[in-house]
Amino acid sequence: MTEAKRLAAESALQYVEDGMIVGVGTGSTVAYFIDGLARIKDRIKGTVSSSEQSTEKLRAHGIEVFDLNSVGQLSLYVDGADECDPQRNLIKGGGAALTREKVIAQASEKFVCIVDPSKQVEHLGAFPLPVEVIPMARSLVARELVRLTGGQPVWRMKDEATAVVTDNGNHILDLHGLRIADPAALETKLNQIPGVVTVGLFALRPADILIVGK
Ligand code: 5RP
Repeated sequence: MTEAKRLAAESALQYVEDGMIVGVGTGSTVAYFIDGLARIKDRIKGTVSSSEQSTEKLRAHGIEVFDLNSVGQLSLYVDGADECDPQRNLIKGGGAALTREKVIAQASEKFVCIVDPSKQVEHLGAFPLPVEVIPMARSLVARELVRLTGGQPVWRMKDEATAVVTDNGNHILDLHGLRIADPAALETKLNQIPGVVTVGLFALRPADILIVGK
């Protein structure tokens, strides 16, 4: 799958135009995209990054990283996904960067999603749906997720004693056991739960272009 990820990432470089500020996602597929971007860094103005991890890698390559607030609308966002259905609805957040990823996707005219073939599914839901929550609301949100979906939320941990903490200081619940018939409806419903910061469904704003590395 490593080669498939690299090929998808390389192919996404065709959407990068001179002078652009490029939105950059997070993950192992995006890491290849960042390596490719480094080769053409003199052609672009810079990037907006979706995570501390990507920011570090971009800066290590000498690529400028701007604050989204200072650049407004972006032309292009390139990011990976954990699952993608035929309508380009996505599950994202396996790398815990879903909130900034969703913000940048919303701020971008074109969202190019880069995946290896294992990410393609007919129906979303086999991959546990990540939900970023404010820490004090974790139990409430978990109960609501059970009530509303029948799924099983699992608190994401780094190890037995340490919770995963997102770049925004929040926690992640991974919702298991779903078969998502209507991704946009589910995203809308789960967005209403108090304490939910971001649902890892990207259906209200899906990807525009899917590149599958083969
Ligand atoms: C991070 C994400 C990633 O895009 C997703 O987890 C895919 O990662 P990878 O390219 O490593 O398979 O949503 O929050």
